[in-house]
Amino acid sequence: MNVEITRNVLTDDVVSRFDLETEQATGLPNACYTSPEWLKAENERLFARTWMLAGFCHEIPNKGDVCPVEMGGMPLVILRDNDGEVGVFHNVCRHRGAVVVPEKCSAQRILTCPYHAWAYGLDGKLRTRPHFYGGDKHDTDPGPDAPGLVPVRHAVWHDLIFVNISGDEMPFEEHWEPFTRRTKDYDFSALRYAKTLEFDVKGNWKLILENFFDAYHVPSVHPKLEEFAPIHTRDGTQTDGVWFHNTNPITEPQEGRGEGMPFYPGLDEKGQRTEWYFHLFPTTLFEIWPDQLAIFQLKALEPGRTIEYIHLYFIGEGATEPQYEPNRQAVYEMWDELNTEDFTIVENMQQARSSPAFDGGVLSPFWDPATQHFAKLTAKYMR
Ligand code: FES
Ligand SMILES: [Fe+2]
Repeated sequence: MNVEITRNVLTDDVVSRFDLETEQATGLPNACYTSPEWLKAENERLFARTWMLAGFCHEIPNKGDVCPVEMGGMPLVILRDNDGEVGVFHNVCRHRGAVVVPEKCSAQRILTCPYHAWAYGLDGKLRTRPHFYGGDKHDTDPGPDAPGLVPVRHAVWHDLIFVNISGDEMPFEEHWEPFTRRTKDYDFSALRYAKTLEFDVKGNWKLILENFFDAYHVPSVHPKLEEFAPIHTRDGTQTDGVWFHNTNPITEPQEGRGEGMPFYPGLDEKGQRTEWYFHLFPTTLFEIWPDQLAIFQLKALEPGRTIEYIHLYFIGEGATEPQYEPNRQAVYEMWDELNTEDFTIVENMQQARSSPAFDGGVLSPFWDPATQHFAKLTAKYMR
């Protein structure tokens, strides 16, 4: 474990500053955004130890569908087993450690390792080991205690599959409760998956997130969004454990933002004029508008490079019917434009994280308590 790097970067002195009044406190130091060792430590101490979005049910709709995914540098496999249930395993053969499922596939009853052909069932159990005792001397009945694929703790919320690799984070329902409590008015079962947008950003994943829950930058960076929800109507982002949340009244629906598409069924008038934002620490974000759910997923490739996915869901026919195609296009263009505005700033800040003139910054008491909370949460998992 990379405990040394975390102790060197998040010293007692640095961490004690996270607990001061916001105006005296700081955000995370530069090394958290620039050091390859720090990112390695994040894989082990952060991404593996909390609930992370790993995949989607729509990628494995039928029994025997199997899909490799990568999480915090680790190969995993998600699958739909013979009973139609979702399974998640470490995608690593117990013999010599080959990746068992290198590519997405369907109609599988058995997962066969490409190296020496050990075969596993969709329940992860080892079924056969060909030539295990010498040429033509097969092990056809390894028994229930034989080394199978290692299962990964997981939970399913509608289309989303979450994993907790370490297995010891709080139960998923408890983890999810602050979101459930605030979104009772939304019938998420009406959502249908439409499309995923992908962006390659030259910035650390944490800069992208900290920028998301920063409502302070809207007038300078997003002129159209400012028109739609002006700064005097905005509040700083609130926090509740591993959740960050904010909500804005929609003064005037725009193309791509609540105009022309079906709304969540039964949403009252206030809900039809409300935008919600949620960030589930560390790398998943949700934007709820009356006509859509946008899920942001970040994959950290390098300290200064992140892939951002936006998975877009609309309500019922809004996702599928040709008549709504122009509206869907407007949503995709809106996200593209908004993100491009944000990435310019994120890439700008990534450059400045190499400067000795900055090392955590000075925070606004109104807008930046969420940035301070993010630093505290990071320290809690990393130290
Ligand atoms: S590594 Fe998988 S069968 Fe040998
Ligand atoms: Fe922004």
